[in-house]
Amino acid sequence: MAENTFYQDYENELTAQVCFLEQYLPMVDQNLKVDDVQNDYNDGVVNGNILEFKLIINNLNAVLFQTIKYLSVRRIKGKPVPANIILISVNEGKAYLYHSNDYLNDIEKVYVGAASKDNDSFSAKQYVEQIDYSKMKGQNRMIQLLRSKKYTKINIDENCIVGWANRFYEDNKSATKAEFIGDETGKTRIVGEIRNPTKLRDYILRYEGKSNKKFRYLMDKLNDDLHKKDLGAFYTDPMYAEKSLELVREAINRVPEGNDYIILDRCAGTGNLEQFMTDEELSHVIVSTYEYYEYKVLMENYSDKVRSIIPPVESNDTFFGGMVRGANALEKNYIENEIIMSYVNDEKCTIIVFENPPYSESTSAEHQRKGHGKKSSEWKKSHVALEMKKHIKGKGLNDMGNAFIWSAFHYYLRQPTDSLIVYSPVKYWKAQGLIAKRFVRGFAFNRRHFHTNIGATIMVAYWANEDQPELDEFSIQAIDIVEKKVDGKILREFVDCGMVTVKKLHKTYSEVYYDKRKVDDKYKVGILCGLNGKEKASNIRIKPLTHPNVIGYMVAHSSGFDNPDLDSSLLVAGRYDGNGFYLFKDNFLEKMPLFAATRFYKYNREWTNRGRIMKSGDGSERFFKDLRAGKLDGFLLKCLLFTVLEPQNHMREFEGSDGKDYKNQLCLDTTNGNTLASKALKTMKMSEEEKELLTLWEKILAEAKVTKNYNPSINYGLFQIKDELDTFNVIQKNRKSTKVYEYKDLHGDIATLSKRVKLYYLKEIVPTLFEYEFLK
Ligand SMILES: C[S@@+](CC[C@H](N)C(=O)[O-])C[C@H]1O[C@@H](n2cnc3c(N)ncnc32)[C@H](O)[C@@H]1O
Repeated sequence: MAENTFYQDYENELTAQVCFLEQYLPMVDQNLKVDDVQNDYNDGVVNGNILEFKLIINNLNAVLFQTIKYLSVRRIKGKPVPANIILISVNEGKAYLYHSNDYLNDIEKVYVGAASKDNDSFSAKQYVEQIDYSKMKGQNRMIQLLRSKKYTKINIDENCIVGWANRFYEDNKSATKAEFIGDETGKTRIVGEIRNPTKLRDYILRYEGKSNKKFRYLMDKLNDDLHKKDLGAFYTDPMYAEKSLELVREAINRVPEGNDYIILDRCAGTGNLEQFMTDEELSHVIVSTYEYYEYKVLMENYSDKVRSIIPPVESNDTFFGGMVRGANALEKNYIENEIIMSYVNDEKCTIIVFENPPYSESTSAEHQRKGHGKKSSEWKKSHVALEMKKHIKGKGLNDMGNAFIWSAFHYYLRQPTDSLIVYSPVKYWKAQGLIAKRFVRGFAFNRRHFHTNIGATIMVAYWANEDQPELDEFSIQAIDIVEKKVDGKILREFVDCGMVTVKKLHKTYSEVYYDKRKVDDKYKVGILCGLNGKEKASNIRIKPLTHPNVIGYMVAHSSGFDNPDLDSSLLVAGRYDGNGFYLFKDNFLEKMPLFAATRFYKYNREWTNRGRIMKSGDGSERFFKDLRAGKLDGFLLKCLLFTVLEPQNHMREFEGSDGKDYKNQLCLDTTNGNTLASKALKTMKMSEEEKELLTLWEKILAEAKVTKNYNPSINYGLFQIKDELDTFNVIQKNRKSTKVYEYKDLHGDIATLSKRVKLYYLKEIVPTLFEYEFLK
């Protein structure tokens, strides 16, 4: 056994690591802190060095491989790959230097699973240097290494290009897609960063591919920030693209004997939807897309296979500002395009439109938050958008996808055997009444597989060009995609999630349930609230109301659940931006199902529900009839019990700036007298489960009463307790902030209550909400 005179006895790797870094970082840069160098779960990146610590390294191969996996992740995320790999055996005071360049092949692979697992089979080359940093010479060498700022230049491929694009756009805010991926093919020869690295020259190698064909599935993710929203490009998963061809083939089967047919895709991107078509099918296809680099890939993939690409060849002026002149499907020159019109005007030609239109909703909260609201409404000034406005009204005008759907029927489909096969969330038919055509067949696909991380229903529907205004519901097969790890590789397969129904909405809550009674002007005084239930005095869009019978304000807005929390409020005073109604003492109870329905999405996250299940007033006549007959008394009390225990009920008590005490009538704290809710619930015959919920609530209230912020002159609701009394401290560690709650019992009981409330809601409330079509 070899003798080693130096030995430290750290027992904990993390402690050893921090001690090392605290000792060495000031020698590298006095401003560097341990937190600055630790990220992405590795032990630290200091300039051009990645460090991996072990108490004792007995197997260099395995530790090196673990580090290589970290470097693989850095490349994929668009982070520079340090030139040096330093493996540190802390208790021995020894370090081993490797050069990442020698392992570039391995770094450029994609690894599945935890970096620290399955590393034993890796065989490393001899290390470049061993550093004995228990001695002065080694310490000096370590400092020298840690100061070096060399990186290994990596190859750009389809695994990492999105990461590097994000980094490029992040560092160069006004940069365009051309500046990143421009190539020297075609008429517009802007050589992009990947082909001639300047900003990223220390980190990436020149990409030698002549065109961008290799990135065809990622072209949407490579759009620069300025165009991302405008283009609304979310590509279809290839498996879904292939599945939807079943619908296209049904449409082809309906082509009358003796007819020619075309398949038109005006927003083809790089041609995902066409990729599994047969040569015969492709010979009927006409494609175009508005974004220039997509157009080029489209050309490269399909120019000799499809019937036409619009424009058929690139001219000197085709490129304009990153777009393709003549290919904006919403402009007049496109509608009048002679190639397409020659088929549309031919009676012996059947038209099949097959598209996944851009998805951009200019009023969505996401757009507004990103400050793109105005910018992304550009399409609204287009010819098609303006024409559509003459024919339809309402919310449907806000969706760019709707302009494609509407224009398909308006300009292209003429005969009953013409067809539209279109990808879109269901609301255009369900809630917006954009079309009333015959539904033939369709699928529900999971939006998660369209380059987003939101699970929701995207329907691909086959509509025949025949009117069917009486259609009230139909069923589609829901199909998800799952990934399985087999032999270290990811395999993907379909999961049949069964048939789901899509039902038409006729009435909104606000039409049939909102309380719109007139109140004398003298009561139109007082304060308004923000979403958090506190007084808010700016951006006010409605009139306050202080009436002896008003107890609060409810928002149960919008049919869909795209912004579930914005569209649901319960406040002691009007919400500053409206969209709700005032709750009165005499009928607040019958409004409780509305609030309960707005919480559906919170407790039902399945993708098959989101985007498909919506709020409707269609059952209102039955509801009011049964209400008058007293059949719903029990259900309303259940909804009330749910409402008082649900944290989105943001009613809180406070003194307004008008000097008035705003009371919370929908809580069960009776310290300062009964509330409307407490009185109503006294009449309820409770099940064991309901009694337990109340017992838990009482425990929470008792715990809340001994907190430092407790104010005995207030009746607290659950939300006010959560927000004002369940206090916490924030601890920063390793760039992560952790909340440490001060009253563990209180905090734990609130969490338990929320679990129980969920079960109660799903079992006792949701079925009746569906029965009366509050949810449909
Ligand atoms: C949702 S993607 C679909 C792409 C491809 N068909 C697929 O399914 O993966 C929508 C495409 O429409 C393109 N696009 C956006 N606005 C357009 C417009 N006004 N005219 C034509 N194409 C447009 C986008 O660049 C994007 O490629």
